[in-house]
Amino acid sequence: MPGDKSISHRAALIAALAAGPSEIANFSTARDCASTLACLRALGISIEQTPEKLKFAGNQPLGSPSGPLDCGNSGSTMRILAGVLAGHNLSAELTGDESLSSRPMRRIIEPLELIGAQIEASGGKPPLKIRGAGKPKPITYKLPVASAQVKSAILFAGLNAAGTTTVIETSATRDHTERLFNGFGVPVTTNNLSVTLDGPARFNGGTITIPGDISSAAFFVGAAMLLPNSDLIIEDVGLNPTRAAFLEVLRSWGADISEIDLRTERNEPVGTVRVRGGLNADVRDEDRILSGSMIPALIDELPLLAVVGTHIKGGIDIRDAGELRHKESDRLATTARNLRAMGAEVEETPDGLRVFGPTKLRGATIDAYGDHRIAMAFSVAALIAGGDTEIRGSESAAVSFPEFYELLDSLIET
Ligand code: S3P
Repeated sequence: MPGDKSISHRAALIAALAAGPSEIANFSTARDCASTLACLRALGISIEQTPEKLKFAGNQPLGSPSGPLDCGNSGSTMRILAGVLAGHNLSAELTGDESLSSRPMRRIIEPLELIGAQIEASGGKPPLKIRGAGKPKPITYKLPVASAQVKSAILFAGLNAAGTTTVIETSATRDHTERLFNGFGVPVTTNNLSVTLDGPARFNGGTITIPGDISSAAFFVGAAMLLPNSDLIIEDVGLNPTRAAFLEVLRSWGADISEIDLRTERNEPVGTVRVRGGLNADVRDEDRILSGSMIPALIDELPLLAVVGTHIKGGIDIRDAGELRHKESDRLATTARNLRAMGAEVEETPDGLRVFGPTKLRGATIDAYGDHRIAMAFSVAALIAGGDTEIRGSESAAVSFPEFYELLDSLIET
């Protein structure tokens, strides 16, 4: 798998801010991560890029860019970079594509203004005009939504604040920022749902090989389990528990999935995943409900899990997932609409989906709605459906996984 998107964004930001040189191998090929690199270059960071690795010299100051910083489709770029900028004495404008321009930013504006930044946004949406804090203040902030991007924005801003910055979560979200800060010399302490760092602090440089992207692997895992007689081995993939929870869910739905060769890379768990096709049909009632504090660890895999849910006897029920309405598309609506087009029975609630199963999906013309994860989840649906499926806007897969269709094609026997 190409390098993990979430870890790649953070590793690039850390390498850009570090005191010493850094090298990043297996950097994500996602278009989103290229947006982060382009923004860093526009801020004056020189990055040497070879096919194998990225090299950062270290000890380079950030400067005000000469034009707007284009974050493309990437929420992580805009929100986490806003945190970096908020902690620096400079001005910048962050823009994005049509989808990103409709996504909520008040969630970062509020804490970053408490730190001392000034941020202009119309109706809480991008573009964001940021005037960074001359003297960032340490804050204690309780997140109103479960969001690793917001948590990370505050932690990056807190690096330049003199004193203790604390973020208190409502539910645990992906913890790559905490692991990488610790791995690159900035101690971060986690105590239940509270994450603390003492500033000012600066990263050491260092090397990292980014683990394979588990959220990209998810589509292959889903396809392999649904296609009988498959035997798929995915090596060197990230297995951080805040990301890999879908493997547990799929196991509880009867999938044959094993994890072997476990190790760590700069505090990030990595290993090999093996999936053998076929479903063991009986699912316990409590295992078909995905809700509450498990949702943040499944957030990017929920469209795929909804597709798999059509094959589960008794169906599945996703609750407490209103955040899905604020992703690259309204993923509750786009998943429900596409599943129905393929003959599934689905109920959409304000914060979830009830998917009835088992249903044999039928090929249909569906729409990715410009959303990479919808394109890939419905490619898996297309593989298990009877008849042909056409996915309009399938090229959006490149936002996280440019190699997706080529790799899928190479793995499928027809
Ligand atoms: C991400 C956090 C999640 C996730 C996104 C990547 C990150 O978003 O959906 O794909 O890298 O921190 P939220 O923080 O909005 O939940």
